[in-house]
Amino acid sequence: MEKTVINDSNYRIRKGKVIRTRQMTPHEKLFEIALDGGRSLDHEPGQFVMVSMFGVGEAPISVCSSPTNRGYFELCVRAVGRVTGTMHRLEAGDEIGIRGPFGKGFPIRVLEGNDLLIVAGGLGIVPLRSLINFVFDNRRDFGKVHTLLGCKTEGDILFGDELERWMKRIDVHYECTLDKAAPEWAGHVGLITTLLPGVHLEPERTFAIVVGPPIMFRFVIKELLAKKIPESQILVSLERHMKCGMGKCGHCQIQDYYCCTDGPVFNYSDIKHIKEAM
Ligand SMILES: Cc1cc2nc3c(=O)[nH]c(=O)nc-3n(C[C@H](O)[C@H](O)[C@H](O)COP(=O)(O)OP(=O)(O)OC[C@H]3O[C@@H](n4cnc5c(N)ncnc54)[C@H](O)[C@@H]3O)c2cc1C
Ligand code: FES
Repeated sequence: MEKTVINDSNYRIRKGKVIRTRQMTPHEKLFEIALDGGRSLDHEPGQFVMVSMFGVGEAPISVCSSPTNRGYFELCVRAVGRVTGTMHRLEAGDEIGIRGPFGKGFPIRVLEGNDLLIVAGGLGIVPLRSLINFVFDNRRDFGKVHTLLGCKTEGDILFGDELERWMKRIDVHYECTLDKAAPEWAGHVGLITTLLPGVHLEPERTFAIVVGPPIMFRFVIKELLAKKIPESQILVSLERHMKCGMGKCGHCQIQDYYCCTDGPVFNYSDIKHIKEAM
């Protein structure tokens, strides 16, 4: 497995400004950020940045916008503790520190020309939104696109306005399911695995990309294998506690792998034998 190249610029905190914020749910907020000097972040879908809240600390956050948006990038953050809680108090015009981008993202060159089955559970839609919007901006480079989203309740759905636009596109098959729904919900109810039998795909030309809570991986992967998708065509993005983001501190280690430099996107066939991975 190729290692990510770490250079001096990965240690340096780059300053940026919050351009706009949007409260998405009571717990998640979206930040549009521009780096000072108009520099581009130059990330790949699936990569993350280390966000610095000066005097508080750093946290790894996935970039949720496509690299096709030049001049700014977006982060969608759930407030769970010190760094993310401080971020939630930021408003337009405030300063922010950024290191990275870090890690291995989705292998775009490998995915090109193939069909994609994108499976997102809850907050898993955040890194996947970067990939999905990248695919839409380069639609002719990819085959069929199936996007399945599972959320606990309707109130947990992120990017609802964009999802409605995806639903109207004829070049993407999009479905959303809720674990629990109010009577007025017209969509599907049930776990995300219940959507998979209804997806018609050609397994030999399909790459499945799965991002969500660990409990979801096991069940979704079982269904994907039953649909005859080869193990080497299943990609997952893993989350681990991280400190440095660049293979130095060992906080994110899973046996021989560092989640921050060998991942966060892994090929299932590389990690399936590691019990702690999923
Ligand atoms: C590669 C990667 C990408 C991520 N992308 C996003 C994203 O796009 N949006 C988002 O909201 N969050 C994301 N996270 C999770 C985010 O990094 C953590 O929520 C954050 O580090 C918590 O920091 P804190 O200082 O606010 O919380 P703390 O005060 O440190 O802790 C609060 C609680 O969160 C737990 N926690 C702390 N760090 C992590 C961690 N790294 N992973 C899981 N739980 C943690 C602690 O155990 C504690 O229970 C990502 C994590 C990784 C590793
Ligand atoms: S976060 Fe330090 S080695 Fe991965």
